[in-house]
Amino acid sequence: MALTKEMVSKLPNVETSIFTTVGNLARKHNAIDLSQGFPNFEADSQLMNLVTEAMQSGHNQYAAMQGYYGLREIIAEKIANLHSHHYDPEKEITITVGATQAIYTAVTAFVHPGDEVIVIKPAYDCYEPAIALNGGVPVYYQLNPENYKVDWEAFKSKITNKTRMVIINTPHNPSGRIFTKEEMLQLQEILRPTNIILVSDEVYEHIIFDGAEHQSSSRFDDLASRSFICASFGKTFHVTGWKLGYCAAPANLMHEFRQVHQFAVFCVDHPVQRALAKYLQNEEHYLSLNRFYQEKRDFFLNRLQGSRFKFTPSEGTYFQLVDYTAITEEGDEALSKRLIVDYKLASIAISSFNVNHRDDKVLRFCFAKKRETLEKATDILCGL
Ligand SMILES: Cc1ncc(COP(=O)(O)O)c(C=O)c1O
Repeated sequence: MALTKEMVSKLPNVETSIFTTVGNLARKHNAIDLSQGFPNFEADSQLMNLVTEAMQSGHNQYAAMQGYYGLREIIAEKIANLHSHHYDPEKEITITVGATQAIYTAVTAFVHPGDEVIVIKPAYDCYEPAIALNGGVPVYYQLNPENYKVDWEAFKSKITNKTRMVIINTPHNPSGRIFTKEEMLQLQEILRPTNIILVSDEVYEHIIFDGAEHQSSSRFDDLASRSFICASFGKTFHVTGWKLGYCAAPANLMHEFRQVHQFAVFCVDHPVQRALAKYLQNEEHYLSLNRFYQEKRDFFLNRLQGSRFKFTPSEGTYFQLVDYTAITEEGDEALSKRLIVDYKLASIAISSFNVNHRDDKVLRFCFAKKRETLEKATDILCGL
């Protein structure tokens, strides 16, 4: 069937995602892949056994639309323990197809044509298409590579009477920066006099280093009253392919969220929800992750000390940015491609996450990899 002029694309400016392009090139050249954000080691066999057990126990039909109640209950308990905020599992927590669906649904439920949504760049790539598909207008706040810190006065100047929503992400992909308590308090004061909704992407909540604490939006009463907290079990438990996450928000916001959710998705994978409800009963399963990933970050960075790359250690997430200006003047996409083709090592060029593809000559590496993979990768990087 031919597409007519009336059938204009709803996303005319969206290209194939950088992750797909780089991933395909990496496979073609048999490169070590430190580009996409997923581990190359297996998840805990206990978790996998719990899924099998749930299937064999007959939990194979639709779950409740909002998610299996036992899972919502333990999520509420976890948030209360970690952040002292009490969400009602009945009305305020919904299980989703990963954080991506949680974010998409929150945006769809509230963004009307012409509404502005503030996005902090460099940003993960699912925010802007969600805004565009709903007729919203992304308004960008661009961070700078010196420290990737928000200047809150400059941020505030982006707010207009059309601002419907702000999207934040802490710990932040790709910079590895986290928002401190003081920064969250500043954001809270900026939003307090407004009716702006906050989408708080917290998928790396359990990957945070050097003793710092995750400052969830749920910790700050006024922020919590306007926030959708979006989380990902895929990221937390090394099972990104399971695409299971959740969203927590006050009842009035969650009501609107579920209006969309029940027709776009209805419910998500039932046996996995049953398994997670049991697995989450042992809090060590998530509290041990900071240490686990910090060891990987330190291993990666200690070996990079011998290279010509410059970097500030990542504060959270499993990503590390490196500045390569001491090595070459070429653009980040050209270097990323050359690293794959000539050196068999894949990374992500940060320009693809920036406003107007601004090229700061920075690459992103994912260190959620086996030790031997990180050894091989750093050998290559130290030879540049
Ligand atoms: C910042 C950020 N948000 C959301 C997601 C998507 O999470 P999920 O796989 O649970 O949809 C990712 C995945 O890389 C991410 O880095």
